[in-house]
Amino acid sequence: MNNYQWYPGHMAKALKSMREDVKSVDVLLELVDARAPESTVNPNIAELAKGKIHILILNKRDMADDSVTKRWLEYYKGKNINAVAVDAKSKEDIKHVNTLIDRLADEKFSGADTRLAKAVEAVGGKLKDRSIKIMVTGIPNVGKSTFINSFAGKAGTRTGNRPGVTKGKQWIRIRKGRELLDTPGVLYVKPLSEEAGMRLAFIGSLNDNNLNIDELALDFLKWVIVTYPGTIIDRYSVPEEEALETMEAIGAKRGALKRGGVIDYEKTAGIIIDDFRNGRLGKMSLEKP
Ligand code: G4P
Repeated sequence: MNNYQWYPGHMAKALKSMREDVKSVDVLLELVDARAPESTVNPNIAELAKGKIHILILNKRDMADDSVTKRWLEYYKGKNINAVAVDAKSKEDIKHVNTLIDRLADEKFSGADTRLAKAVEAVGGKLKDRSIKIMVTGIPNVGKSTFINSFAGKAGTRTGNRPGVTKGKQWIRIRKGRELLDTPGVLYVKPLSEEAGMRLAFIGSLNDNNLNIDELALDFLKWVIVTYPGTIIDRYSVPEEEALETMEAIGAKRGALKRGGVIDYEKTAGIIIDDFRNGRLGKMSLEKP
């Protein structure tokens, strides 16, 4: 059976709730994984973002191949899509996002002829006095919570479960004229192909409980040996052979053995996938434009 089957699960429900949230928002920050932007982008967002500022944030750029990320940014520029690559944990990168939002908001909302400006004027306000509302969205594990924490900075410090603190969604005033929704919009994607599903599984955006981890690690080894030769030799000091032989060599080297000295495939697979997901195999990209 195909290991990367799609489980629709909460898809429709998530979309419905997102449609509701989006109504009060001016800026949609859509997080994708810089290592696989195509497979982690949500096809529904373009429609949800109509009339709003939509920025594609290629997150985890620190784990992706820099030259490939650069090509992705050029690709999006060519398509007139606002895109920026970030490491959610970098203050400098968060600044870049803010600068981009400021520029786009200026372009969009300063013209007195926009419908929004007219509406605000009609109720006696000035658009520049109004807060720009921002929302973060993306599929699981692309770094939404991490990004929100960095983006909100001190202002966004969570107050935890203290009694009296309002639960549910809140706007965090991140600075003058900017408010951020404290909870991200979680969306899911239906992989367009088996390869796309595999990439989602590699980066941890599919539910691991539904995956066969041995198969996942074998597919990963097949891919990495061809795409980034030398990676496995450098990390594990074993030769790069067929995926199965390589996996057995890694298991033996790392002492992932069952009773009687048999290779523990599951444990070995876990080591490999964990190393990749934590960036210990180096910077690599799964997709090129
Ligand atoms: P989510 O809300 O979209 O589901 O993602 P979340 O922020 O929980 O991030 C998922 C994992 O990705 C976390 O690692 C987080 O630290 C990591 N991460 C998020 N953004 C970046 C980034 O720009 N660069 C790197 N290198 N990692 C990033 P974790 O191992 O699950 O948790 P933790 O041990 O780091 O807390």
